[in-house]
Amino acid sequence: MCGITGYIGYREACPILTEGLRRLEYRGYDSAGIALIADNGGLNIYKEKGRVSDLENSMAGKDTSGHIGIAHTRWATHGEPSAVNAHPHVSSSGRFAIVHNGIIENYAVIRKNLEQKGYVFRSSTDTEVLVQLADYVASLQDSDTVTVLQKVLSEVVGAYAIALLDREHPDRLYAARKSSPLAVGIGDGEFFVASDISPIAGYTDKVVYLDDEEIAEMHCGDSLHVVNLANVECRHEIITVPENLGKAGKDGFDHFMLKEIFEQPSCLTDCMRGRVDVAGKTVTLSAVREHKDRLLAAERFIIVACGTSWHAGLIGKQMIESFCRIPAEVAYASEFRYSNPVVGSSDVVIAISQSGETADTLAAIELARSKGAFIYGICNAVGSSIPRATDTGSYIHVGPEIGVASTKAFTGQVTVLAMLALDIAKEKNTIDDRTYAEMIEELATIPEKMRVVLRTNDRIASLAKMFTYAKNFIYLGRGYSYPVALEGALKLKEISYIHAEGYPAAEMKHGPIALIDEEMPVVIIATHNALYEKILSNVQEIKARKGRVIAIVSEGDSTVSAIADTVIEIPETVECLDPLLVSVPLQLLAYHIAVCKGKDVDRPRNLAKSVTVE
Ligand code: G6P
Repeated sequence: MCGITGYIGYREACPILTEGLRRLEYRGYDSAGIALIADNGGLNIYKEKGRVSDLENSMAGKDTSGHIGIAHTRWATHGEPSAVNAHPHVSSSGRFAIVHNGIIENYAVIRKNLEQKGYVFRSSTDTEVLVQLADYVASLQDSDTVTVLQKVLSEVVGAYAIALLDREHPDRLYAARKSSPLAVGIGDGEFFVASDISPIAGYTDKVVYLDDEEIAEMHCGDSLHVVNLANVECRHEIITVPENLGKAGKDGFDHFMLKEIFEQPSCLTDCMRGRVDVAGKTVTLSAVREHKDRLLAAERFIIVACGTSWHAGLIGKQMIESFCRIPAEVAYASEFRYSNPVVGSSDVVIAISQSGETADTLAAIELARSKGAFIYGICNAVGSSIPRATDTGSYIHVGPEIGVASTKAFTGQVTVLAMLALDIAKEKNTIDDRTYAEMIEELATIPEKMRVVLRTNDRIASLAKMFTYAKNFIYLGRGYSYPVALEGALKLKEISYIHAEGYPAAEMKHGPIALIDEEMPVVIIATHNALYEKILSNVQEIKARKGRVIAIVSEGDSTVSAIADTVIEIPETVECLDPLLVSVPLQLLAYHIAVCKGKDVDRPRNLAKSVTVE
C-alpha cells in the first residue's frame, strides 16, 4: 500500500528518494511521485502513473537538484490511479508539498469549506485537503510550520502519516503520524523519513518511531525535535535496528516469491531456533515464560487477522483447541472491530500479521485492549506497529517478505502457532508426554521434509502449463487441510487472477459440486490423516462428474493415485503439521500458473503488501 520516503541532508536527495521508492515497491502501488526543493529554491514536482521506473524516465534531463525532498508510492483509495492524483500534492500558493499515507475521513467537509473560500483543488484525493488547509491556516496568521501542522492535524479525522516540505523553510523537513506508521532515520548531519524501515536501511541504523499525533521537525545540525498536537515536547528512545533489516535481493531467483518459497526450510529453522530443543525435548517461547500466569488463566483465545494470516489463524485455532483444550475463535479483524464482540479480561487475543501494520488488525487490538483482553502478537516485521501495540508476542523471524503473495510468512506463522499451542499445553498439562515429544521431533524434521517437497518444483512447473486455460479452480481439504485449501485458492487468485474457491471437501456437495465438469480443475488435499477415507470419497465424487483432480498425497499413496488425474507426493508428518508441507506445492502451483500466464508475480494488480487503510 502507499509508501513514504523523505530526506534532508548533505547528499543529493533525488537518488536517495528514488532508491527509497524502489524499496517500497513491494508494498503494492499504482503511481509514484517526488517533490524536491531545488538548489535555486524552486519546488520541483514529478509524478507518474505506473512504476517507479516510469517516474525516473519522466525525470530524465529535468532539474532534480536539491538536498531535501519527499516521495511517495500511491495505492489508490480516493480517486483513480493517475499522475494528478499521485502524491506529492502542492498547496494553491505553492508553499507546501505533502505526501500522505492513510485516509482523511472528513476530507469532504474540509474540501467544501476551502472551496467556498476560493481554493481550487486539482486532484480527487483526500490528501489534498491537508496541504490546502495548511495554506489557509498559514494565510491567517504568521505561524511557524509546526504550529500550522498542529492546527491542520487537529481538524482532521482519520489516519495519517505525512511528510511535508515548506518552501519558506527549505532547510527543514516535517513529518507526523496518527494510526499509520512513520519512522525517522537519524544519520550524521542528515535525516530520513519512511513509512517502513526499508528506505532507511543501509544509510543509518538509528531510528525513532513516531507515536500518534506527534510531529517531527528535522533540521540538519540540530537533533530531532518532536512535539505533539498540544505542543508538548516528546522525547524518544533512539532504536538501533539490525543493519540488514529491510534489504533483500532475489539471490538468482526469477522472482521474490519463488525465492521466498525456496527459503522456507531455512526460515523455519530460524523461526524455531532457541525455541524448539530436540535434545532437551522442550518447546519454549519467551513470551509464554514471561506471561505464563496470564496465558494459562485464559478462558478463551480469540485470533484476529486478515488474509493469509487469517488462514494461519484457522490452523492455530485447531492446534490450541486440540492441545490446550481451551476454546479458540478466529475472526477477520475487519469484522471483529465493528461487531461489538463479547470480550473480557479472561480472554487472550492473538493478533497475527506479517507486516505488523494492517490497519484492521491494529484496530481489532485496540478494541480488545479497551475491553480488558491480554494481547499476544505474532508478527514478522520487527519494530512494526502491531508488536508495539501488543502486551507480548513472538516474532516469526522469517526475514523480509517482498513478494506480495505471502508464503514464508504463512508457514512461519503456523510454526509459531504450533510452538505456542505446545508450550501452553505442556504448562497446562493438557498434552501427554508422548504426543509432546513426538510433536517436537516432527517440528524439527519439517525443514528437511520441506526440502523434499521443493524437489517437486520442476514437475509442478510442467503441470502448470496444462492449466493456464482455466478460468476457475476449486481447492478442497478437511480438518487441518481446509485452511490450506483456502490459502492455496487465495495464492492462485492473487497472482494469476484465476477465480479460485477453497472449500471444506465435504461441503462441496452442498453447492460447488454443481460447478464440476471436465473443464474444472480441483486441487484436493488427500494426505494420510484421520479423514483420509472420507476425502477419498470426495475424490470419487469429483471424478464421477469428470472433474480434473490434482491431488496432494502422502509418499507411496496408491489409492488416490489410481483415481486422480495427477498426484503430487509429499513426505508424511503428524496431521497438525501437514499444512506446513502441503502449502508448498500449492504455492508453487499458483506461482508457475501465474508465470505461464505472464503475470507480474511479485506485484499483482490491485494488491498491497501492507494494508494500512481499512
Ligand atoms: C494483504 C496481503 C496479504 C496478507 C494480508 C494481511 O492483503 O497482500 O498477503 O495476508 O494483507 O496482512 P498482514 O501483514 O496483517 O499479515
